[in-house]
Amino acid sequence: MPLVCLTDFQAYAQEHLSKSTWDFIEGGSDECFTRDDNIAAFKKIRLRPRYLRDVREVDTRTTIQGEEIMAPICIAPTGFHCLVWPDGEMSTARAAQATGICYIVSTYASCSLEDIVATAPRGLKWFQLYPTSDRQLNKQLVQRAEALGFKALVITVDTPKMGNRRCDFRNQLDLQRNLLLKDLRSPKERHTTPYFQMSPIDSSFCWNDITWLQSLTRLPIILKGILTKEDAELAVKHNVRGIIVSNHGGRQLDDVPASIDALTEVVAAVKGKMEVYLDGGIRTGNDVLKALALGAKCVFLGRPILWGLAYKQGEHGVEEVLNLIKNEFHTSMSLTGCRLVTEINQDLVQFSRL
Ligand code: FNR
Repeated sequence: MPLVCLTDFQAYAQEHLSKSTWDFIEGGSDECFTRDDNIAAFKKIRLRPRYLRDVREVDTRTTIQGEEIMAPICIAPTGFHCLVWPDGEMSTARAAQATGICYIVSTYASCSLEDIVATAPRGLKWFQLYPTSDRQLNKQLVQRAEALGFKALVITVDTPKMGNRRCDFRNQLDLQRNLLLKDLRSPKERHTTPYFQMSPIDSSFCWNDITWLQSLTRLPIILKGILTKEDAELAVKHNVRGIIVSNHGGRQLDDVPASIDALTEVVAAVKGKMEVYLDGGIRTGNDVLKALALGAKCVFLGRPILWGLAYKQGEHGVEEVLNLIKNEFHTSMSLTGCRLVTEINQDLVQFSRL
């Protein structure tokens, strides 16, 4: 049977992956309240379609940070793709390039940045940094990503330490000890000094360090994980160039709002001074349209990309996932009377009282 929606890919992945890999991907933190609310919150928003408009030609293209993408649906950073498919992030990068969207490569990618760039040199890529307590390593990683042609630096701010992932504890999953302990240094540096343990995430990293990072690179800096107007205003003050409203797919602090519920507050706070994006719970073309109507410039997919990777030899599965949701979004635009992404606005949505 063909897979006709993203949740079909989810069911396929659950059937075919090992239990510990499935739990690692699907799990949220603590009681998984926020993970589930990310999906449920979209269902509280209704669409207000406009009819009798000429929608013979609908164009899903848009731009992020000045670069064109074929649809406002890109790939969120997720670590350890080799758990799901041997070619890991190289497959993901090829699928992103083939579909003309942006791929945010995680600090915890299981392939090297050099290999990812070599396999998909034309694809738009941003690099996501978990700042480590080794300042020198942070600096080298940022400058290496810039030299390799990554177009933005995404700093994940919601992870001063890992959330309580109960499933991973139960499965005694140890990503550091298994094949996944990766040397973050560039291939050249690896030959010069012995390799010790991967540095832990720096839990003292704060706003002043954003200024330090800006002094190291010309890349635009985007903060991933902002959920409040207070932090959004500080991001404006610190000349950050974008925010991804995100709760890490409900894997960090539980009981925070669904991403879509936090979006409006952040969009209002930045007053158009930077682009705002969203991830968390995007599963249909209508979800994409709702996020854009509430002010997101584009959305990012986390788990659905890994479900695609688990299906049909890596990149082909990811391409199918991306094309499927892009086609759904095209239909959502047509059925609400939007020919261009710029025509999507808040008049298209209303909040249900349910
Ligand atoms: C993540 N996420 C994540 N975020 C990040 O900044 N760096 C990372 O390395 C990872 N790794 C990671 C692994 C896995 C298995 C998952 C599921 C998630 C969070 C990710 O970028 C994104 O915020 C969420 O996945 C979005 O929610 P959905 O689309 O999964 O509902």
